[in-house]
Amino acid sequence: MLSNTFKALLVEKTGDAQVTHRLVEQPLEALPAGEVLIRVSYSSLNYKDALSAKGHPGVTTIFPHIPGIDAAGTVVSSTVSAFQAGDAVIVTGFDLGMNTWGGFAEYVRVPAAWVVPLPQRMTLKESMILGTAGLTAALCVDALLHRGVCDGEVLVTGSTGGVGSLAVAILAKLDYSVTAVTGKVAQHEYLRSLGATCILSREEAIDQTGKPLLKERWIGVVDTVGGAMLGTALKSTRYGGCVTACGLVGGAELATTIYPFILRGVCLQGIDSANCPMSHRLSLWHKLATDWKPANLEDMAQVVGLNQLSEQIDRMLQGQSVGRVVVVPTDSGNP
Ligand SMILES: NC(=O)c1ccc[n+]([C@@H]2O[C@H](COP(=O)([O-])OP(=O)(O)OC[C@H]3O[C@@H](n4cnc5c(N)ncnc54)[C@H](OP(=O)(O)O)[C@@H]3O)[C@@H](O)[C@H]2O)c1
Repeated sequence: MLSNTFKALLVEKTGDAQVTHRLVEQPLEALPAGEVLIRVSYSSLNYKDALSAKGHPGVTTIFPHIPGIDAAGTVVSSTVSAFQAGDAVIVTGFDLGMNTWGGFAEYVRVPAAWVVPLPQRMTLKESMILGTAGLTAALCVDALLHRGVCDGEVLVTGSTGGVGSLAVAILAKLDYSVTAVTGKVAQHEYLRSLGATCILSREEAIDQTGKPLLKERWIGVVDTVGGAMLGTALKSTRYGGCVTACGLVGGAELATTIYPFILRGVCLQGIDSANCPMSHRLSLWHKLATDWKPANLEDMAQVVGLNQLSEQIDRMLQGQSVGRVVVVPTDSGNP
């Protein structure tokens, strides 16, 4: 039976502009308007959620707020014929968890246009091990394939993070030779288990020479870091190669010259998963459920309850997270 209230991680701004979060019960009627009410089985922690939980104005401006840009679960009720009670569905991105109450809760209510049917051969839990991180990694790989990147070494930065881990695993599954950049010496074995064949330290991946171009090495790049690491990747990309830029954990600025573009025909491809059109989204989720599905998905995830999220959020903002954090909207972390 549908309860009148639901558990959630609520982020509040106090009078002195301090941002705090705590576990609360909210009335179901407080959920935003929307066509599809979903009982959340799993959510996941993404970098944007960590920013939202700390009140970052670039992500969330309306408080009180429930973060969680990902949610997977079962439709409770729907006012559109495309979704029926009992359907297993996924929602990632759009405004979920930004200024629309998100997946760190037992229920979400969203527009039908945001809802993806759970693909066959994928469980709800697998969909959230992937989540926005998986969709983003898939967008990067898809862009590389679209640019004809086929033979050669592909660089993945921020490689032990969510997007990075999944990009390494998908590229390895597609038989690319993957070089992973990490700041975590203790995680080299983890990266090799995902399929990385070569590992670089962050220092090795940031140019100190100041030269406009470096020796050509990468045929493709999945960059989750931005800043100096993205600038260096552009300088080291081979003739006709493609660099996909999706993240900014290392900085939002980009120092580059025009040379990689006009002397080597390098392509810099921006990636946005939040507003990825539905037709492209459906095709990528299908790939993630079939040919691109990493064999070791379970090994890259830990499951936590709402009351363990605070610690995970801090770890993520310190650059310490490894793989994916799947969230079960209970205190205990048990479904
Ligand atoms: N464009 C999009 O649609 C989209 C979608 C999802 C995520 N993103 C962005 O992608 C980035 C990664 O997201 P995520 O969810 O994968 O985060 P995450 O799980 O926290 O991973 C980030 C990883 O980056 C590395 N890192 C952290 N701080 C760094 C620093 N100062 N310098 C260099 N490397 C650093 C760390 O890996 P190592 O220790 O292995 O180096 C860390 O684990 C974020 O900026 C996020 O906003 C964008």
